[in-house]
Amino acid sequence: MDIKAVRGTKDINPDEADSWQAIEHIARLTFGAYGFKEIRTPIIEDTNLFKRSIGETTDIVEKEMYTFQDKKMRSISLRPEATASIVRAYIENGFDKKEGFVKFYYIGPMFRAERPQKGRLRQFHQIGVEAIGSRSPFLDAEVLLLLSRLLNNLSIEGFTLKINSLGCPADRDNFKALLRKKLKNHLKSLCTECNRRFEKNVLRILDCKEESCRRIVKEMPKTADNLCRDCDGHYASLKSILNENSLGFSEDKDLVRGLDYYTGTVFEVTHPSLGSQDAIGAGGRYDNLIEQFGGKSAGAIGFALGVERLLLVSDPDKLRQKSDKPCVYFATIGSESYKAAFGLLERLRANGISAHIDYESKSLKAQMKQADRMRATHVAILGEDELKKGEILLRDMKTSAQKSIKIEDLLKTLLKHS
Ligand code: HAM
Repeated sequence: MDIKAVRGTKDINPDEADSWQAIEHIARLTFGAYGFKEIRTPIIEDTNLFKRSIGETTDIVEKEMYTFQDKKMRSISLRPEATASIVRAYIENGFDKKEGFVKFYYIGPMFRAERPQKGRLRQFHQIGVEAIGSRSPFLDAEVLLLLSRLLNNLSIEGFTLKINSLGCPADRDNFKALLRKKLKNHLKSLCTECNRRFEKNVLRILDCKEESCRRIVKEMPKTADNLCRDCDGHYASLKSILNENSLGFSEDKDLVRGLDYYTGTVFEVTHPSLGSQDAIGAGGRYDNLIEQFGGKSAGAIGFALGVERLLLVSDPDKLRQKSDKPCVYFATIGSESYKAAFGLLERLRANGISAHIDYESKSLKAQMKQADRMRATHVAILGEDELKKGEILLRDMKTSAQKSIKIEDLLKTLLKHS
């Protein structure tokens, strides 16, 4: 076939879909425990939504959006992220007037025309949360505790949570002016991209990966050391709440984010096994965005995790175990047993148990192999002798233990495992 998937996009085959479902399942359970409810927003939005929130001079808006004109010549973009859409939905659906404080989560595809590489796609998927309606540092702490809890629940180890504060818009403006003043004499030593950033988005120079830029950045002032009293107090409270709740973090004074809407707390979770694209997730406060879009002034904070990157750092077996439900494969010998087992499939399925059988009269050995391939948690072996006695041999594939049980007890036994 000469037509291929579009560069930077991927099929998720059923084999991998198991891990995707496990991640989504664990995420939903974890979000539920923290009181977050799902919101689903459209994949296409008015281009201006992203221009005015993420920022006109950011890489995402300048270079990476999939933008087209519809038949009425309106500029539409595929969403490169979900925070802007959720703020739009929050205001458009009147949550600012009705409820004020909300906790939303989302799971879905995002689109950025970046150069594809390991862990970087053009259609990728995010799992994220947005809590809108409070400026309390306890909310910052809760969102970070949730992020860390979710990674623990996904059995992901070895990650680092980095935090920083960018301050309010006034702090940021003052800081940008200070940074420009200090960097002015170093322009020749900065990379070409940072020379461009100097004019357009000077903060981004702080997280340039070029060695020559890193050397200069080291000597530069830091956002968190130049905060107003309120922002400094908020940041100090957050750190002490995190310490009181034993959440490990490291302060990264050069952490700035590639999206303009952030104010105050920003954070990133990195994993050493990922190489250059090492962020599994990131987020922060955006206390001005709701008002900027015409809503009632409200503090807000959220994060998004990249699902493809989560998969790169997680162990599929551990993930599956976390959301394992019984999955039974019937291995049969003889046509009478086959017919009886076929009838049992339906009884189990009616009770929500995943049950399977072969259709090609395979040998017992081939059936056992098939059960293994399907990652069945149990194999129910039914031969003519067992059938006569009204029994079935149930093998637990994890422990390899097997025992004969009454056929009528099969459902009850399996339900105990679910
Ligand atoms: P972001 O840092 O642009 O933040 O993306 C969050 C995560 O999405 C990244 O850490 C990464 O894991 C994943 N990601 C981003 N781009 C790609 C890509 N091209 N391929 C694969 N994975 C990718 C946001 O999107 C903000 N909306 C997060 C947020 C929520 N801030 C506040 N609330």
